[in-house]
Amino acid sequence: MNAMEGISIKNVTKTYSQRILFSKKTFNAVENVSLDITTDPPEIFSLVGESGSGKSTLANMILQLIKPDIGEILLNGKKINDFEMLEFMKKIQPIFQDPFDSFDPMKKTDLFIYETVKNFNIARNKDSINYIIDQCLQKVGLNYQMIKGRYPHEFSGGQLQRIAIARALVVKPLFLVADEPVSMLDASLRISIVNLFKQLKEKENLSVLYITHDLSTAYYISDRIGVMLRGNLVEIGNAKEILGEPLHPYTQFLMKALLEPDPDKTKISLFDNEKNEEKMTEVSEYQLKGCKYANRCPNVKKICREKNPEYYYIKNRKIKCFLYEEFK
Ligand SMILES: Nc1ncnc2c1ncn2[C@@H]1O[C@H](COP(=O)(O)OP(=O)(O)OP(=O)(O)O)[C@@H](O)[C@H]1O
Ligand SMILES: [Mg+2]
Repeated sequence: MNAMEGISIKNVTKTYSQRILFSKKTFNAVENVSLDITTDPPEIFSLVGESGSGKSTLANMILQLIKPDIGEILLNGKKINDFEMLEFMKKIQPIFQDPFDSFDPMKKTDLFIYETVKNFNIARNKDSINYIIDQCLQKVGLNYQMIKGRYPHEFSGGQLQRIAIARALVVKPLFLVADEPVSMLDASLRISIVNLFKQLKEKENLSVLYITHDLSTAYYISDRIGVMLRGNLVEIGNAKEILGEPLHPYTQFLMKALLEPDPDKTKISLFDNEKNEEKMTEVSEYQLKGCKYANRCPNVKKICREKNPEYYYIKNRKIKCFLYEEFK
């Protein structure tokens, strides 16, 4: 059997404990998540969900920054921790929220990329290294002359994020993991940067895991989308279909929040059912035995509090919600 080309997340769980007031609570920041993201053909998969829903925890497991407690992650059919680290990083590259995290502030940007090319053994002689750097910068709308001799702080956030993406491209990765890559940039710049991901997918065959709170950019660039709720992936499928007609009540809530002009209003409705601190709500929802949305769901049924739903399938979509039980 041919292994899937790409990332395959298999029944992954990550457990943390947190001290809240006087007690220590254990909860699954990511709970039994399974997901395949293909690199052949490439795709842009967006992971969306409220703050604290486990998006970064999942991304950090893919990047091997943290280890799952249960389950495993494969790349092209091979367990990611069986890869030699340099080999692994040639295939998967992170793009950080703060572009300054991708650079050494004390080093000229071009020299830093030059060293990256050398350290990864991509090329040896000066001319070919410079050629690769220039090529990669051109893929993000820049060129070598524009960055030569300049330090990271001499660039705007948007320019530096482009340079960070160019730096990731020097290893010719299959896959980018971009965790909130535009949330620190001006709203006016965001779409041009996320658009780059779309171009890179089309021209360079790159797959991207794009993590965001911003459903509008997710709608614009993604092929598929996964909606995270307290460690669970609750709705997965085609991005335009899901955002055009959300079926899980939590996805519907996220869409409503997007359209709500007054952000304070959604905040209140978000924590309506609990008068406690935000953090307590978060952890107590993680610990619900049934569906993690049961306390907030307008459609809640008795069974939702008793059992965490399995997936039901509607066309190409997977939904973890008892409302769709008949589609088993
Ligand atoms: N090292 C850790 N120790 C304990 N708890 C953690 C740790 N890292 C994350 N958490 C908790 O796990 C939960 C999920 O966190 P995570 O950072 O994955 O969420 P997120 O969806 O990325 O949120 P955001 O949108 O705010 O970035 C949160 O409750 C967070 O506080
Ligand atoms: Mg995060």
